[in-house]
Amino acid sequence: MASTKFMGLLLAVIHVAMSKVEVPKISLNDGNQIPILGLGTYGSAKDIARMRQAINWAIEAGYRHIDTASLYGNEVEIGQGIADVINRGLVKREDLFVTTKLWNDKHARDQVVPALQESLSRLGLDYVDLYLIHSPESEKADGTSANIDYLETWQGMEEAKRLGLAKSIGVSNFNIEQIDRLLANSNIPPAVNEIEVHPSLTQTDLVAHNQDRKIVVMAYSPFGFLVSRNRPSAVSLRADDPALVKIAQKYGKTTGQVVLRYLIDRGMIPIPKSTDQNRQRENIDVFDFKLTRDEIETINSFNSNTSIF
Ligand SMILES: NC(=O)c1ccc[n+]([C@@H]2O[C@H](COP(=O)([O-])OP(=O)(O)OC[C@H]3O[C@@H](n4cnc5c(N)ncnc54)[C@H](OP(=O)(O)O)[C@@H]3O)[C@@H](O)[C@H]2O)c1
Repeated sequence: MASTKFMGLLLAVIHVAMSKVEVPKISLNDGNQIPILGLGTYGSAKDIARMRQAINWAIEAGYRHIDTASLYGNEVEIGQGIADVINRGLVKREDLFVTTKLWNDKHARDQVVPALQESLSRLGLDYVDLYLIHSPESEKADGTSANIDYLETWQGMEEAKRLGLAKSIGVSNFNIEQIDRLLANSNIPPAVNEIEVHPSLTQTDLVAHNQDRKIVVMAYSPFGFLVSRNRPSAVSLRADDPALVKIAQKYGKTTGQVVLRYLIDRGMIPIPKSTDQNRQRENIDVFDFKLTRDEIETINSFNSNTSIF
């Protein structure tokens, strides 16, 4: 009986070891390393309830980079998942890259570090690997504008980095003008700009502008309209588009995997969200093929400047 149990455990460990994908890393402009694919975590209450298990599955599959935000209301569950995988001996804290974000209602300089400390307490961590300003827009609790300049907010972000509470700092949803103004008025440049990029919103200029300035682009909502959204997608690319299917068949991949590879091959870091074990495994299985320049151009041609938001 005991030996059957032992064999079962051994087989489970072998299965995890064999099916784990190694995600490559790149350097940020501050010298820290970041895995080039992460797990998105924004979702419904049902997703939040599944998040602890989803983190366990993701780490087993090879994910080492997790993207959350105070807005998502899931930092506690993500922290529980992280504690599980560390306690199970699958990873050490330093193997993980955890990103969280400052919400718009905490943009005053002296609110930034306390807001991060609250996120850290929910996550059960001493530091995050990356802290982002979620959006350049500041708001009051009632949702109206607080008129706080993001340059002021950035001073709080720089303090968070100096205190070691965030190893790297960056922004999200910043446009070209905002990036330039931040670069011209900061001591520490942002390491990352997390923006919406997918085949229906290729953001060619904004992506190049960031990359030319050594700011890594993290691509959110990477599947765009390939997956169902609460928005009409009449003009947008679908998962069964013949040109996409043709590329997918060439590599023996799904069209979703092709789109993730397209973002990686454009030098970005996609953060696909899934709380489903099989889809998580599918989404990370993109490191055994590479698109040609023509295939990247084909996918670029689907651009319709359509945001899912
Ligand atoms: N900074 C920002 O302002 C911002 C904004 C939006 C998003 N984000 C971040 O980016 C992450 C990703 O964006 P997103 O969640 O909007 O969109 P996404 O990752 O493009 O798509 C997620 C949706 O696709 C489904 N899905 C995942 N893998 C699939 C597959 N292989 N086949 C079919 N369906 C699949 C998921 O359902 P299942 O979970 O059921 O698989 C979910 O409904 C977010 O979770 C969040 O971390 C950041």
